[in-house]
Amino acid sequence: RKACFRIPTGSSELDRVLGGGIESMAITEVFGEFRTGKTQLAHTLCVTTQMPGIGHSGGKVAYIDTENTFRPDRLRPIAARFNLDADAILQNVVYARAFTSEHQMELLDLVAAQFYSEPGVFKILIIDSIIGLFRVDYSGRGELSERQQKLAQMLSKVQKISEEYNVVVYITNQMTADPGAGMTFQIDPKKPVGGNILAHASQTRIMLRKGRGELRVAKIYDSPDMPESEATFAITEAGIND
Ligand code: GTP
Ligand code: MG
Repeated sequence: RKACFRIPTGSSELDRVLGGGIESMAITEVFGEFRTGKTQLAHTLCVTTQMPGIGHSGGKVAYIDTENTFRPDRLRPIAARFNLDADAILQNVVYARAFTSEHQMELLDLVAAQFYSEPGVFKILIIDSIIGLFRVDYSGRGELSERQQKLAQMLSKVQKISEEYNVVVYITNQMTADPGAGMTFQIDPKKPVGGNILAHASQTRIMLRKGRGELRVAKIYDSPDMPESEATFAITEAGIND
């Protein structure tokens, strides 16, 4: 039996409410408005995955970017904070940009093939964002059920990858405008944008909201073994921090 592990987030407060970090063999979804830190946390995880730690030390990162917001240079000050060599960190991040929802699905098959061919090497799969392209590709009236069906297919692929290869899966979901619905989406964790399909697929859901300045508040939902709780963290030049 594979032993699951946790990857620290860069914030000890957030790690505490997550029971030590983001767990492997499960999907963790981070949702919230623009600029709440979803992508900054993704960048921080690229580095913390590779830090010394039980189950993940030196692990490689698979990063699927659908929004063109990955900035490799952002990893440098984060690596420096943890006394890690930035070039080595960058070399261990396998990056792919997805251009359509179909392309995103194909990339997941490539990820699975790579995880299969290099057993135990990859420790995290990051998808930023999980449904943005689906919103664009299935934006018409009457396309919602097809979108949800494709989304469910993708999530079951992702779930399988997390369990089969014992990796952390970190997915982001922006929660403001939903062009599919043609209306502004109110943040309500009971009614997520991806619908119940996404909410049910994620074992842990972290809702982010803005606090004062660079502070952000994370609320944890649906974690199987942790009670609902909140943590405050900061977005800094060196990534997510206390
Ligand atoms: P969307 O993708 O638009 O939904 O937003 P997001 O949730 O991914 O937000 P993101 O992670 O991009 O966070 C943006 C925030 O990070 C902004 O408030 C920036 O001020 C902050 N940020 C980014 N880089 C730095 C930095 O180098 N230093 C500091 N202090 N803050 C930064
Ligand atoms: Mg983002």
